[in-house]
Amino acid sequence: MNAPDRWEFPFGTPRVHVAVTVYAASEDDWRAEVAAYEKELGEVPGVRLLSHQDFAADGFNVFGYRDGFSQPVVEGSGAEPLPGDGRPIKAGEFVLGYPSETGVPLPVPAPDVLGRNGTYVVFRKYHSHVAAFNKWLHDNASTEAERELLAAKLVGRWRSGAPLALTPERDTPAIGEDPNRINDFDYSADPRGLRTPLGSHIRRMNPRDTKLTVLTDVNIRRIIRRGTSYGTPLPPDRLKDDGTPRGLDFIALGARAIDNVEFLQSEWVGSGNFMGLGKEKDPMISLQDKGAYFTVPGTPPRRVQNIQSFNTLLGGEYFFMPSLSAIRWLAAGT
Ligand code: HEM
Repeated sequence: MNAPDRWEFPFGTPRVHVAVTVYAASEDDWRAEVAAYEKELGEVPGVRLLSHQDFAADGFNVFGYRDGFSQPVVEGSGAEPLPGDGRPIKAGEFVLGYPSETGVPLPVPAPDVLGRNGTYVVFRKYHSHVAAFNKWLHDNASTEAERELLAAKLVGRWRSGAPLALTPERDTPAIGEDPNRINDFDYSADPRGLRTPLGSHIRRMNPRDTKLTVLTDVNIRRIIRRGTSYGTPLPPDRLKDDGTPRGLDFIALGARAIDNVEFLQSEWVGSGNFMGLGKEKDPMISLQDKGAYFTVPGTPPRRVQNIQSFNTLLGGEYFFMPSLSAIRWLAAGT
């Protein structure tokens, strides 16, 4: 289902060489910037625009969850960690040419003027099956409150962003809106996952202090996420797909981003071994086999059956992101 021969053009073909993202504070500025950029591109011989994707990010993804706020703090960046962010991670984990968490810089591509201060970018385009997600919640929970709790168990957070670790019984949107509280937790009081299931998306993707059954240094597995959603959200009471394309363009940055996303995908998304969950997979982003289930720990634990593939891949690419000085060097053509 996720195989490259099913991807959207031009992903997976040898034709993609450059990707550009354009951000602006207002829609007018953004449209003007994109138009000017595309006009300029049209005048460059040998370069053709293969694909274009509009976004209108408001901080929530198409499933209705607040998204993108839990990020590593980079040492030396000037950003102070907020409560729960953990200690700053060495700059060399994110920018090439600086000491990494192991004490030495990661290899910088040659020549140095091109590679230094650059980083790697992983891009994945997901198609989100929100109607199937809504239906699965309806099939497995009878009231709205139960459905919202099950939805929170899958991610480890309520749709407001408030973590189950801090507010396990019901949503507290004020926590989701407060940057000082939204990440202010660890899993030390919840080794069995009674609040935040061991298999939930955020606990898999950043286990924090969870005791893992497979030895891993979690500090070299951090990624900076800059993904954003496309298409309109589908409300939770809509159980049939309306045919509108919607999903997420996932972007991860880091000096080990390629290795890390491959690692996350194969070890922490596609398997449950590291948490003692056997074959169980990430409930949000994995391809699920027929008869797959999601475990909500408890006494007794509940195995919620028939979990579906809620996000499937439409494309993916690996990029090198040069520094501003490297772009100037390239533009000078020396
Ligand atoms: C369509 C696909 C995806 C959806 C809908 C999704 C959804 C979410 C949501 C709702 C959160 C909580 C908000 C936050 O902590 O910022 C989150 C966090 C996160 N996701 Fe995803 N995600 C997707 C794909 C991925 C992929 C492909 C990866 C990596 C391979 C990933 C890695 C992470 C990480 C590292 C966090 C932060 C965890 C933390 O620090 O506690 N996600 N995701």
